Amino acid sequence: MQISTDDRAGKTVRPDGDGVVFSSLNGSTRFSWRWLRDHGEDEASRDPDTLQRRVDTFTLDPAEAGAVTVGEGTLTVRWPNGETSVVAIDTLEAVAADHLSSDWSTTLASAPTIGADAILWSDPASIKPPDVDAAAFLNDDDACGAGVELLCRYGYLVLRGDTTDRSLAEALANRLGYVRQTIFGGIWDLAANLTAHADTAYTQIYLGPHTDGTYSHDAPGLQFFHCVRPADEGGESLLVDGFAIAAELAASDPEVAAILASVVVAGRYVEPGVHLLAERPVLRTNHRGELVQVSFNNYDRAPFLLPPDLEERFYSAYGRFAALSDEPSRRAVISLTAGDFLVFDNWRTLHGRNAFSGPRHYIGGYLNHEDLESKRRVLNSNGSLQRQSSGLHG
Ligand SMILES: [Fe+2]
Repeated sequence: MQISTDDRAGKTVRPDGDGVVFSSLNGSTRFSWRWLRDHGEDEASRDPDTLQRRVDTFTLDPAEAGAVTVGEGTLTVRWPNGETSVVAIDTLEAVAADHLSSDWSTTLASAPTIGADAILWSDPASIKPPDVDAAAFLNDDDACGAGVELLCRYGYLVLRGDTTDRSLAEALANRLGYVRQTIFGGIWDLAANLTAHADTAYTQIYLGPHTDGTYSHDAPGLQFFHCVRPADEGGESLLVDGFAIAAELAASDPEVAAILASVVVAGRYVEPGVHLLAERPVLRTNHRGELVQVSFNNYDRAPFLLPPDLEERFYSAYGRFAALSDEPSRRAVISLTAGDFLVFDNWRTLHGRNAFSGPRHYIGGYLNHEDLESKRRVLNSNGSLQRQSSGLHG
């Protein structure tokens, strides 16, 4: 069966074995059932306000579809369980064009190694929570140095403060580096108010562990939250050590870790007037093969198409990471009271949030990773490169 979508433009979609084939004047591209299920653009598959993924990708049954229909610029697949996925033909065309123009001949990287000075925690009960008094952190270099060291080794730090005044958040952030300006502003308010930004973070629902800024070429190195008012019930921050997951995968299944270190994953953020897009592997390594950054956000993952032999291996590997990151036993559950300040390494530590009730109000912001690294070298004198520089500004 061949279904014409636009004869004049020569575009067709036809079912073919375990997926459909989209053809245009540029060539033919196969989309698997799993890919189509993963990329549904209907309301059940994707939040219409945030454009963030709703469908549970990794428990999908990639079994053969029940029926395929094309009309009004969309492809609709009705699955055996009665559910449907709707994908715009324009999306297929754009993804196919990107796929056909890509070079897939690159070989897979090796599984990453993990630097020795990170203290990995797959069981948060096994570590003493990194916790420092905010006033001491501000006023005493030794306390600040100790806090920075905890943050670098564990991937997060709680500073216990006694005021909800925004000036405390500013002072603590400036002690660590410089507040970054983004589409959210510098220091921003986080409350269940979807009019602020089209993002699931601005709701009251459970938020699965993820890293922020997968849509940014230089994802924020640190994120902080200052608690102005905790939720009446729930709303705890959930932290998961992404480096620990990577280390476990590298030891137990190096091929999975290698795929996660090699396949470039696109992330995007869309709201009126904004369309951010960037890409990098889930596990980014340096020239020594050491893991330097974890990027994982299934909500914001943008469409891209891999060659058939790699696609299922990628879904399997990405799904393994997703499943591990969502294991409740891995979560450090952080309860902040008014005045407390949580900061975590967004290149390592995934964060989420329990569902909540009541007018929970946090303020938050982003800092750069290099400024934390700088602070550590300056305060703790353990940097590997102690170069002098006056900077070049002129
Ligand atoms: Fe987030």
